[in-house]
Parts: sequence; C-alpha cells; structure tokens
Amino acid sequence: MPNALPHFDHNEILVELKQSILNLKEKYTVNEMANTMGLSRSTLSRFINEPDYTSRDIEQRVKSFLNQEFHKVNPAASIGHYKSSISEMGFVPTQNAIQASAVLSGCMEYRDLGVIIGPAGSGKTRSVQEFMKKHPHSVIRIEGDDMMSTRDLIEEIGNELGIGEEVRYGTTRDRVRKIVRRLSQDPVMIVVDEADRLVNYSVKKLEMLRTIHDQAKVAIVLVGLPKLGTFLQRGPSMRENLSQLYSRVGFIVNLGGLRREEVMEMLAGYNIENNARDELIRIALDKERGGCRALVKALRRSLDLTDGHPITLEVVMEAKRMLLLERSRH
Ligand SMILES: Nc1ncnc2c1ncn2[C@@H]1O[C@H](COP(=O)(O)OP(=O)(O)O)[C@@H](O)[C@H]1O
Ligand SMILES: [Mg+2]
Repeated sequence: MPNALPHFDHNEILVELKQSILNLKEKYTVNEMANTMGLSRSTLSRFINEPDYTSRDIEQRVKSFLNQEFHKVNPAASIGHYKSSISEMGFVPTQNAIQASAVLSGCMEYRDLGVIIGPAGSGKTRSVQEFMKKHPHSVIRIEGDDMMSTRDLIEEIGNELGIGEEVRYGTTRDRVRKIVRRLSQDPVMIVVDEADRLVNYSVKKLEMLRTIHDQAKVAIVLVGLPKLGTFLQRGPSMRENLSQLYSRVGFIVNLGGLRREEVMEMLAGYNIENNARDELIRIALDKERGGCRALVKALRRSLDLTDGHPITLEVVMEAKRMLLLERSRH
C-alpha cells in the first residue's frame, strides 16, 4: 500500500497509548474516561494495567479520546487537523474490495469471464475504479442502463475503444466484427457495470458480450445487483436461458456487508464523538440498509450539519432523519 507515514511498531504505539491514558488519571477517574469512550470501567482498567490487553476497537476509542483531549488543551491544533469532507476519506481495502479486485485480476490474467455481484452501495463501482487506476490502459468500463439497446451498447464499447465512428453504421454483425477485430489487435478488459439493467427485456445484449469474449478472447466482467446472479442462472423471465454464458464464467463473487473494523477505518480521522461513531457504525452494518453508501451519505450529512464542530449523536440522528425523509420522497 502506498504510504508516506513513517512505520511505527504496533507495540510502541500501544505502550504510548497506555501511558497517555495513565497520565490522564491525574485529571479524570477511570470511570469518567471509560464512560466518555463508551467502554466499561473494567475494560479500560485492564487496558491500562495489562500490557498485552487490547483490541482494535479499544485502541480506536482510546485514540479518539486522546485526540479530543489534545484539542481541548490546544484549541489551535484542531484547525485543519481533522478531515472535514467525504473526499478526504481514502479508499479502504475492505474484504469486498479485495474480493472484487481478485475477480478483476483473475479475469485479466486468464482473459476470462467474471461476475461481481453485490447489493446497492456495497462498493462495486468504487472497487472497479480503484482497479482501473492501477491498470489505466488495459480496462474500459461501460455502464448499463434500462434504455440501452444492443446498438447503444455496441456504440458505447466502440467509443471507449476509440472507434466510435467506425461502429456507427452497418448491421449489428458488422459492427460486432469491427469491435472484435479491434480487440484482437489491442486487447483490453471490458467491465460492464450495472449489467443487471441490460437484461430487462431480453438476454441479447449479454449474448452479444459473450460473442465478443469468445471471438476476441478478451476478459469481460459483469458487475451488478444480486438479481444479475439469478438472471444468469435462470434468465430474466425464467424463459430465456443464459446457462451458455453462465457455464463459461471463470470467476464470480458475491459481496457481503462491511465489517466493524472496516467501518472504523473509513471513519478514522473525522472528528466524531464516541456515541455518534457507534451510531454511524450501526448504520453501516445494518443488514438491510447498511453498506458503504449508507455510511458515506450519513457522514456527509453529518459533516454538513456540524460545519467543522465535532459530530455528536444528535447530529447523526438528524442526518439519519433527513436521509429517511429523502428516501420516502423518491
Ligand atoms: N472500499 C471503500 N473505501 C472507501 N469508500 C468506499 C469504498 N467502497 C465504496 N466506497 C464509497 O461508498 C459509496 C458507494 O460505493 P459504490 O462503489 O458506488 O457502490 P455500488 O457500486 O456497489 O453501488 C461511494 O461513495 C464510494 O466512494
Ligand atoms: Mg455502482
């Protein structure tokens, strides 16, 4: 991972954290500090007294407590110290992102067909974009939509390949042939995002992609909602069969939810009170409505509402209410 930070041994950091909390015992009781951190008194007490007793959760809470303490003592230091916008949230290599990336690299290496399936907001598109940053010249990304005809899809691919003009005319067969010719000379991997939206009326568009894959021997990765998996196995209306295509899929992944420590990493560096952080984590981990997008939306709203001040639980609840209202209106 590219990283400009100096490397610290985790043990050194741990000793430092324990010592800093110990020093603060002159100012607060263990009970007071534990309450602020959202930990039990005995957990914090063990953390202070037992050299090896720790967890990522405890460390995160201790760090954020120490941060708040530091800024109370040095108010000037808070200016510009915390992240204040969503764009400052770096890419977190979540389990989902790692799995999606594995499908993409596998397909790229073996020029295979791949499928990445995951619920809305699970980080599919972002994972593809991060992969493309690492392989800027060997991947193109097309986004499917409900209105797209076979013709439109061919044109989109043609445009991305820089032969838009050439594929504007002729029969479908001619135009596919031109794309195949181009890809055979200069192979790139084609990622079709929102591919489930291409299967609304018929499976023709996916069949065409399979033809391109077969003839040009290039990797194609379909990315979409869980229903894409069902379409591939049984067809959109259970009539048309995509088993021809499905049987050729070499790499497939079904993305799941986020993990607690991944959410913590996404929230790291923002000025958030502990109980507010807990609420944001709950939002992100929610089985039905959670995920990266839910978290990003709630955090963005909260940042707007606080305008530079620490994010409190009240702010997160207000952000949540606003987002719910928006959802019910659409
Ligand atoms: N691994 C990640 N690290 C940081 N932010 C992420 C990550 N994955 C997704 N996000 C953010 O979460 C939001 C939703 O992700 P997106 O890729 O659009 O989801 P999907 O395509 O599955 O619907 C976006 O704002 C995206 O930037
Ligand atoms: Mg997407």
